[in-house]
Amino acid sequence: MPLLFRKVRDLRNHLRSLRCDRGLSVGFVPTMGYLHEGHKALIRRSRVQNDVTVVSIYVNPTQFGPSEDYDRYPRDLERDMAVCEELGVDVVFAPPDEEIYPIGFQTEVYVKGISDILEGRFRPGHFKGVATVVLKLLNIVQPDRAYFGEKDYQQLKVIQTMVRDLLLPVEIVPVETVREPDGLACSSRNVYLSEEERESALSLYRSFLLAEDLIKGGERRAEVIKRKMEEFILSHPHVRKIDYVEITDPDLKPKDKVEKGDRILLAVWVGNTRLIDNWKVSV
Ligand code: PAJ
Repeated sequence: MPLLFRKVRDLRNHLRSLRCDRGLSVGFVPTMGYLHEGHKALIRRSRVQNDVTVVSIYVNPTQFGPSEDYDRYPRDLERDMAVCEELGVDVVFAPPDEEIYPIGFQTEVYVKGISDILEGRFRPGHFKGVATVVLKLLNIVQPDRAYFGEKDYQQLKVIQTMVRDLLLPVEIVPVETVREPDGLACSSRNVYLSEEERESALSLYRSFLLAEDLIKGGERRAEVIKRKMEEFILSHPHVRKIDYVEITDPDLKPKDKVEKGDRILLAVWVGNTRLIDNWKVSV
């Protein structure tokens, strides 16, 4: 079994001795738990590239809005520990809230601009919560490398920007999105979906394939591609609402004419579940 730590101080002492006394490299995978194949890909990458792998499991309250799913977010530490054991994780950090946000906590990290577009428009304050907790976790673990999924592409960009701007001594390693065999991006939130909703949720992935087909056929106008994707997604039952479909360059600047390497990003409500996904244009 991996060693389980609840307290910042205990984890720090343990990692200090691994790093300083034994000279071991440390890889870090921050998560909110309920581990799935996407998380596993990050963990496996860390295991290959580092001597020691640390996984944090913490459902961070500050990145959820007041009417979001913080209370019903799935949690199962026992199962997550078993997954971590199977993958050879050395250390799991699962702190209680008071370890991360003690009384009197006053400081927030705000990565301007990039935090306010796309997801940020629909989830105000979300990336402030993410950047703040990730900076804290990086300061606690002090890893050589930290692993983030492209599934949350904007989050990855926010973290990369923070690391660059604040000169944090860590390498951020992006990991490609892991999908179910039928194309649905793995997500802890997929457990919210009924069987019928899950079928409609496939329209997100399929809309990317539709976009690729359009582009292959010579269509480069972002407006046209976005409209056809939206029409396609909305034609599925249980799809309640599209928050956005956007086409941007790799740094999240909106594009009018689509090129290879651009990103298509979307957020869609299927029933009461909000799903996000993104795609790198390959043609
Ligand atoms: P969580 O949603 O648990 O995701 C943890 C990490 O796993 C993130 O880097 C995310 O991008 C990655 N991930 C999730 N689904 C993936 C998939 N299908 N393929 C590849 N990677 C995937 O993201 C968070 O937690 C939190 O915001 C966190 C960074 C832990 C801060 O609280």
